[in-house]
Parts: sequence; C-alpha cells; structure tokens
Amino acid sequence: MTYDHIGVAPISPALGAEITGVDLGADLGNEVFSEIHRAFVAHSVIFFRGQTITPEQQIAFARRFGPLSEIPFITPWADHPEIVRVIKEADEGAKFNFGGSWHSDFSFLPRPPMASMLYAVELPPVGGDTLWASMYSAYERLSDGMRRLLDGLQVVHSGLGAYKRSEDLRSMKTVTDARAETEVLHPAVRTHPDSGRKALFIDPAYSRRFADMTEAESAPLLNWLHEQAVQPENCIRFRWTPGTLAIWDNRCLEHWALNDYAGHRREMHRITIAGERPYH
Ligand code: SIN
Repeated sequence: MTYDHIGVAPISPALGAEITGVDLGADLGNEVFSEIHRAFVAHSVIFFRGQTITPEQQIAFARRFGPLSEIPFITPWADHPEIVRVIKEADEGAKFNFGGSWHSDFSFLPRPPMASMLYAVELPPVGGDTLWASMYSAYERLSDGMRRLLDGLQVVHSGLGAYKRSEDLRSMKTVTDARAETEVLHPAVRTHPDSGRKALFIDPAYSRRFADMTEAESAPLLNWLHEQAVQPENCIRFRWTPGTLAIWDNRCLEHWALNDYAGHRREMHRITIAGERPYH
C-alpha cells in the first residue's frame, strides 16, 4: 500500500502505525485525510507524535471520521462536552485507573463507538503506556471449527461491572445510573464495514455471557478466547510522548491503559466517534 502525502511506519504486522508528515492543527485537504483514513483502516490504530492542537482542533479532526458518539456514565469536560478528560491525579494512588483492563470502548451500547481518539496532554515521567490487541488476529488464528461455532453465537454486553466502581477514581466523575443494568446483544464475531474482515467482539470488561447461556457456562470459552486474543504477537504496547494523538478502531481492537505511575499525574483528552450496530 503506497501513500503520496503521509509517512506510515507500521509498529507490528498485526496492528499499529506511526503517521508522519501531518500537522493536525492545519487544514487537512481531502487527499491527505483520505490517506489517513486508509492507514487507519489498514493498521487499526494510528499515532501522530508531536502535535500541538487546541480542543477545537481535536474535535474538528475527530468529526472528519464521522459524527461523535454519546458518552454514557462519564461527566464530560464542561468547556467541551465532546471531550472526556481522562485524568488520574498524582494523589489518587495505585488501586484504580480509568480503562485499566482489556475492553472495547462502550461495547455495551446498542451502537458502540467505531473509534476513540486520545490526545496526550500530561504524562508521568515513565509508565502510563497503553496496550492494544487485534481482534482480527484473534479471530483469524482460531481453527475453522471454532470460527464456525462462534459465527453463530451472540454475546450479552453490559457496563455494570465496570461502571459500578465509580467511587474509585475521583477525577473521572463517573455517574452510574439505571442504564448500567441494560444488557445489549452483539454478535461474537463482527464484520468490519470498511475492511470486510471479521473480528472477535468480546472483552472481559463488558461481555457477560453468551446469549441463552449462564455466566458459568460461558466463562470457560470466553476466558479461553480472551487468553488467545491477547497473545503477545496480537498486541502492541505504546509509549506516549506529550502531544501524541492516537485514533483506534473499536470494531477490531481492544485496549488497556496501564496503571503503573502512582504519584504522578496523567491527563489525556478522549473523543469517541459514533459507530453502527455490529453485524456478523
Ligand atoms: C481508555 O480506555 O479510553 C483510556 C486509555 C488510556 O488512558 O490510555
């Protein structure tokens, strides 16, 4: 795949690429944006280092990918309601951080966000990296028999497990309400509308059980699938630098924000972009 307007340096064969030659604070012409979008679809998560952008510029760039998603259970930034400030203060300890387990953002919504964008504002001197895993690879590495089995299954998703702990992280101002009880069914395997590839769509944070099965019946297979999904060759670990902007595809990835920087402050600005109802 060739690019005329941007540099694209893959991070691993399965996922991730660093993009160069782009100033996200400038007006991006359609040709440049269409190459960025092509790199996003090809690599699932792309990174732009060294960007100096305002919240308005981040919002404008996010809108190039599509309309923005609703934001359940988290109080957005009062100044810019499109943005969630993902903050952990230096005095918030080591117990909990936002996004600190494998998940696909808001997969419990009927239409989960297709993408999330994160802009690094303040970082600890070391630590606070984020991991991503390719759920395309997770699916493609399974046997034909296991793929056939999963192709016919649906999974019950709910935000209750993750968002009921709202008191654990003061700075995130999460608010759990009755909607957290809602259960939503999605196919265990979804087809990506742009790439046409199939991806496993389960995650330990929000996938409760297979439809028409109990949690106890579902757990052995869900846990085994997840262990396969996060094998090292399916994952990248990204070391942030201030001013890095990432955009990732929730339809074919899951991610984990590491919580290894107690005593230091970390602030990231997150925007979620609306998606479609997952289909097989
Ligand atoms: C998230 O789960 O969206 C947060 C990721 C991060 O803070 O690295």
